[in-house]
This record gives sequence, C-alpha cells and structure tokens, in this order.
Amino acid sequence: MIPPLLGIDIGGTGIKGAPVDLETGKLCASRLKIPTPRPATPEAVAAVVAEICNAFFAVVGDASVGIAVPAVVTRGVVRTAANLDTSWIGTDASTLFVERLLRPVVVLNDADAAGLAELTYGAVKDASGVVLLVTLGTGIGTALFVNGQLVPNTELGHLAIDGFDMCDKACAAARVNDSLSWKAWSARLQDFLGYAEDLLWPDLIVVGGGISRDAHRFLPRLRLRTPVIAANLQNEAGIVGAALAA
Ligand code: BGC
Repeated sequence: MIPPLLGIDIGGTGIKGAPVDLETGKLCASRLKIPTPRPATPEAVAAVVAEICNAFFAVVGDASVGIAVPAVVTRGVVRTAANLDTSWIGTDASTLFVERLLRPVVVLNDADAAGLAELTYGAVKDASGVVLLVTLGTGIGTALFVNGQLVPNTELGHLAIDGFDMCDKACAAARVNDSLSWKAWSARLQDFLGYAEDLLWPDLIVVGGGISRDAHRFLPRLRLRTPVIAANLQNEAGIVGAALAA
C-alpha cells in the first residue's frame, strides 16, 4: 500500500491542504483551508503551510509534501507573483519550505499540479496527444501535456487580446467582479480559448477550477474546433496533484 502524502495548494485567497490516497486520488481526510495572509509574503505563507502540516501530522508524519503555488516555478525557485506578494519573485521556495517544515518538499505551479491530477485520476486519464488543461479561478492557469508529458509553466492565461491580460478578463472571478451574464463571460472565454487553440492546435482542452461544476452553463456556448470537456477533480485537483508530485 502506498502511504498517503500531503498536498498543499496555495491560492490568492486560501491555502488548502489534505492528505491524499495516491492509489485513488481521493482525499483521506477533509481538507483544511486557511485564508491566505495579507501581505502574502514567503514567511507568512510558509507559517500557514507549517500549520497545515502540523494539523495532518498524525496521518502523514514528516513524509515529503507537495506544494502548489500560483506562479512560475523553475528548479524550486518562484519566478513570478501574480496573486502573491512580489517578494516571492526569486525566492527559493524549496529551501524556504524545507527549512520551515523539516521534511522533503516538491514545489510546482498550481495549474501544472491540477493537470497532473486530472491526467492520473480524472477527466483525461492516460490521454495522449496534445492536451491543454485550463484552470479558471482567481486567475487562469494552464497545464500543457504532450503524450502525457507535462510541459511546465506554460502561463497561457496571460495571453493578451486587444491589450488585455486574459487572466483578468476571462477568469472565473471576472464573471462575478464584472457582473457578467454566463453568455457575456463565455464570449470572453471563447476569445481566450480560441486564441490558445490557434497557437497550439491541441487534441483536447480540459476546463477545470471550481467553475467546471457549472460547465453546462458555458461549454455549450463555446465554438472551438478542439473538443472541450470539464475536469473531474474541480477544486481538489491542486491538492491531489501536489501530493502526486511529492
Ligand atoms: C499565475 C499562474 C497560475 C494561475 C492560477 C496566474 O495568475 O500566473 O502561475 O497558475 O494564476 O492560479
């Protein structure tokens, strides 16, 4: 039996974690969610991550932990900070968390984590070809797979159309913040996904994030040449993928 591992998903509004059964991809305990501290500095965020590790110590002990962050991560170093404090840029997150948590860690982009989870347990289990997973939440994250192999840190959510960063215009939060109808928001999503498919010509697009629960409200409105499906794991994909990476 594979022992459960802890996955932690750092978001702009909340930091969520839970132990994950890696045989099934299911959470072994209810997830713990703590509001993201403001300012979301590396030290403040690391303190919350430590709290989550402590809360699940009885289940996972000091086994390695996977940590998903809403940023580009190369070799453990955070390179961007769209939804976190800018002091993250250049921070060696791997070293920071290892020193704080006293256990091995794997740090990766949150959309990449969600994509790994969907490819292993979810909507696109074992999918081949070019698969683009898009997470719609406070921002837009993307994970690109070529025959099951992740191309990390694609950041297609920041594609600009007419000078606007689509991460702000077509994310799930924009529908609420800009008081858009599903029709109006779907038109923005259409622009974004249409642009992305023209660049990549994927075989499949998977739409994730909590909003994929409402997929019936917007997927039928999209006019894309690529098949589009909703993700299965929704808000838990980041936690599950982080544990998987660990
Ligand atoms: C960040 C991405 C992240 C996405 C979803 C974007 O603002 O640039 O790295 O995957 O938000 O959290």
